[in-house]
Amino acid sequence: MANLKAWISALVALILPVKASTKVTDLSTFKWNLASTPANISVPAKIPGAVHLDLQAAGIIGDPYHGLNDYDLRWVIKPNWTYSAEISKPASGASAWLLFNGLDTFTSIELCGKHVAATNNQFRQYWFDVTNIFKNCSGKPTLSINFGNAVEISEKISKIPGQETWPPGVEGLFEFEHRQFIRKEQNDFGWDWGPAFSPTGTWQPAYLVEIPPFDVHIRNVLVDVYRENQVPLLVPDQSKNWVVNASLDYLGSLPKDAHLEFALFDQKKQLVTEGKLTNVIQASNTITGSTVIAKDFVNLWWPTGLGNQTLYSLRLTIAQEGKKSISSVTRKIGFRTILLNQEPIRPDQLAKGVAPGANWHFEINGKEFYAKGSNFIPPDAFWTRVTRDKMELLFDAVVKGNQNMLRVWASGAYLPDFIYDIADELGVLLWSEFNFGDALYPVDKEFLNNCKEEAVYQVRRINHHPSLALWAGGNELENLELRQVQGSENSTRYFAEYETLFLDILGVTVFENSRSISYTPSSTSNGWSKLDFSRPQPITQRYYNTTAGEIYGDTDYYNYDSTVAFDFTRYPVGRFSNEFGFHSMPSIHTWRQAVDEKDLSWESEVVILRNHHPPPGGPEKNLNAARGGMLEMTQAHSTYYPIPNKTDPAAQFAALCLASQIFQADYYGSQIQFYRRGSGMPERQLGSLYWQLEDIWQAPTWAGIEYGGRWKVLHYRAKDLYQNVIVSPFYNLEDQKLEVYVTSDLFVPVAGKLHMEWYDWKGKPLNLTQNFPKDVNVTVGAINSTRIGSWNLSDTLNGIDLKNAVLMMETYMWLAELPPNTAPTKFYRHRNWFTPTFLSSAKIVDPGLKLTHVPKELKFVIKATSGVAAWVWLDYPADVLVTFDNNGFWVSPDLPMIVKYEVHEDNGKIPWGWADNVTVQSIWDFTLP
Ligand SMILES: *[C@@H]1O[C@H](CO)[C@@H](O)[C@H](O)[C@H]1NC(C)=O
Ligand SMILES: *[C@@H]1O[C@H](CO)[C@@H](O)[C@H](O)[C@H]1NC(C)=O
Ligand SMILES: *[C@@H]1O[C@H](CO)[C@@H](O)[C@H](O)[C@H]1NC(C)=O
Ligand SMILES: *[C@@H]1O[C@H](CO)[C@@H](O)[C@H](O)[C@H]1NC(C)=O
Ligand SMILES: *[C@@H]1O[C@H](CO)[C@@H](O)[C@H](O)[C@H]1NC(C)=O
Ligand SMILES: *[C@@H]1O[C@H](CO)[C@@H](O)[C@H](O)[C@H]1NC(C)=O
Repeated sequence: MANLKAWISALVALILPVKASTKVTDLSTFKWNLASTPANISVPAKIPGAVHLDLQAAGIIGDPYHGLNDYDLRWVIKPNWTYSAEISKPASGASAWLLFNGLDTFTSIELCGKHVAATNNQFRQYWFDVTNIFKNCSGKPTLSINFGNAVEISEKISKIPGQETWPPGVEGLFEFEHRQFIRKEQNDFGWDWGPAFSPTGTWQPAYLVEIPPFDVHIRNVLVDVYRENQVPLLVPDQSKNWVVNASLDYLGSLPKDAHLEFALFDQKKQLVTEGKLTNVIQASNTITGSTVIAKDFVNLWWPTGLGNQTLYSLRLTIAQEGKKSISSVTRKIGFRTILLNQEPIRPDQLAKGVAPGANWHFEINGKEFYAKGSNFIPPDAFWTRVTRDKMELLFDAVVKGNQNMLRVWASGAYLPDFIYDIADELGVLLWSEFNFGDALYPVDKEFLNNCKEEAVYQVRRINHHPSLALWAGGNELENLELRQVQGSENSTRYFAEYETLFLDILGVTVFENSRSISYTPSSTSNGWSKLDFSRPQPITQRYYNTTAGEIYGDTDYYNYDSTVAFDFTRYPVGRFSNEFGFHSMPSIHTWRQAVDEKDLSWESEVVILRNHHPPPGGPEKNLNAARGGMLEMTQAHSTYYPIPNKTDPAAQFAALCLASQIFQADYYGSQIQFYRRGSGMPERQLGSLYWQLEDIWQAPTWAGIEYGGRWKVLHYRAKDLYQNVIVSPFYNLEDQKLEVYVTSDLFVPVAGKLHMEWYDWKGKPLNLTQNFPKDVNVTVGAINSTRIGSWNLSDTLNGIDLKNAVLMMETYMWLAELPPNTAPTKFYRHRNWFTPTFLSSAKIVDPGLKLTHVPKELKFVIKATSGVAAWVWLDYPADVLVTFDNNGFWVSPDLPMIVKYEVHEDNGKIPWGWADNVTVQSIWDFTLP
């Protein structure tokens, strides 16, 4: 056998011209060590990885997420840490490169005892030619990466003479100060929903690349897909063909006559079209070319719920005339246009009743649509724990939750490609942001150059993903940061600096690299007032130069005075809502992952100190601030629902956690319905993205999904209200006027019925003296809202105890414009409930809930035998992850509920008999001891 093998390879060598090719070695394959001389620690380590995780794996520290370890492990970030490994020596004749896709953050790199480079940006890709160092290296080459203390370094930078300063309060201060001076994930220094670990390490893959002469290694790829003549920020012409522009950044060198070939394959791997790119240019180790693809050759990519997520594979090959190909690379792409339309309201819109001002909504493939979703924060303080499995589970929850857009919030990190891949496949649009937020930033030359390099790398890397919906410069800059300095002594300078970084650097980087993606400098803003494409930076911002009666821009709304939570007249009236929310506790099951059993109490300091809203405001524990945020939750749920008072401490804690979640879900639900109704109001409101999708750790936060994947009440309530067609009550507490609306975000009109029924809490129909319609015919236009009616409850419920009245509303709708003689096949059903008094004062009764498991059909049946049950909650044990198709709903004796479930296996084995430990309760249970 061995002889035969040798014979074959000899033969192959004879036939084929020998051509050495580029060799890429993943640095994770070497044996790494992590050491700190000051800490006197040396342990085995991982790349990619993080100091905390390596120390935990070595048993030096416990779980960083346990208890108050976020404070107690502060010593870890003080000393420098050095990662080192003996790596292989490259073959002679090749050039050798070190390629890092992410170093967090301040490093000094050595190879064979020689200084290679220093780095200072977590978000840049770095590459270093180390050919000569290897040449002069005797013995085995050691690579070492020395990481400095980012907290200390940022402080030093802040003290450089002449460094920019801002009035107090402009820097949103969470725990460690000075984050705006460094290019590191801003929430690494603390945020109001997370810990401040200031993680350190190689957070993205790193490689040793050996490149023989006349060969290259492609280190980054830009693919831009747009309609011919498309200009960013303006409505593209959907009748045009597609342009595919490709641009490859490489290490090594190319012959002058190198050209670019492309081949486009569909999902079945069938070739769609191939050829050579035209207008090929080579400049500074980048080769660029483009081609036109006839519009009929390809199908469109759509977000979930709006069409297919059609993807194509684009293979790009660098080749030389008459010779073999030099290098090739493949990217998944989609054909779609996505626009953030901020153009002035047109006469035809005014004629339809849209308030004057400017648009602020998204258009996919030329169609405006309602964006439903939430805000995505870093899913872990340690990115190397963010696995594809976990992200698939999270995005599955997004899609099941009827969400089509996430805002990838600005002060975390640019997402790795695998997360965009999942979003491409599932059709989740990702409004993506540069990582700047809740601060103003310096604009010295070095800082700007650093930001430019970061932006160029990230914009080019991410652009090919059809899920990319927008680039925004940063979080809460125009509506919060600039507001704070407006009119101050140095106001003009701060505005000019803002424009330098967020328009001239970041905006121009987007426009230089992409014609397919819109850009806005700030997440929340009044939009642009003028565009001038004769300038490299076309945008003039409107800022606060607004006209009364006109509506512009998107909104961000928080109000921690829960006594006015359900007064919808206070909610902002804008074109789009990109942030709103209120914090709640995770479930007791998730708390148990992080705190000891004795600490499972609302009064426990461990629990309280894990609440970072309002933020501690410095690196020390701040019990007073934390108590303030706990009190906001207590006040909220005790105002609106019965107050749990259970004798068993764990049961009491679990009930309080649930109560806080019910308030959160109720409050968000009220706002989601208000914003969605706005699609049919003068504001023509077209988006609801609540704060926040998921958690970074186990703590009280705004999340709808707990760390580990368990859904809070919020995620279920949002799933229900993000259905295409919903019925919603709007009750004005002042004049006791109840209005009912049906809202639809479908592209075509719907028609059908609305059924309404008043009950008392025992579930008996109420006998109203005033006429209140039970069945109403309803039509709703495309992406619109229809008011069903308006009733004064003091008349309608005359003689009836308002505390003993419950209204059930249910729609049964179908597409209105079906071809003749076609029966509808798809029905849009939504049930909603309303009570004229808050549940804290309502005369609720024991609903006599009965839960039946039907294992064969993977479902539970929930019946109320003696009354209406509000906020029915199915709870399941720890050590398993289950999602229901509905939870947090209401049932009445005549309206039982069937709930299907799905068991997710990623937590390991599914415990036998978990379903026997599922419990059911409702708000009534808060009244029980
Ligand atoms: C600590 O690390 C930083 C960043 O690599 C470096 O600049 C500094 O010299 C290091 N200090 C020591 C004592 O090694
Ligand atoms: C979506 O894909 C399915 C299956 O390939 C196809 O039958 C359908 O026509 C596509 N829909 C659109 C709108 O392209
Ligand atoms: C305005 O800027 C000047 C120059 O940097 C500085 O001396 C002054 O303190 C600043 N004013 C305020 C109110 O920060
Ligand atoms: C404010 O907007 C109006 C109308 O667009 C414009 O004429 C005016 O120049 C703007 N003012 C400033 C200070 O930008
Ligand atoms: C809670 O229940 C206990 C008895 O278990 C009772 O003494 C106490 O007054 C109750 N507290 C409230 C606020 O109802
Ligand atoms: C309403 O009237 C019906 C028949 O008159 C009666 O059976 C029912 O009990 C009444 N409901 C309530 C809540 O009084």
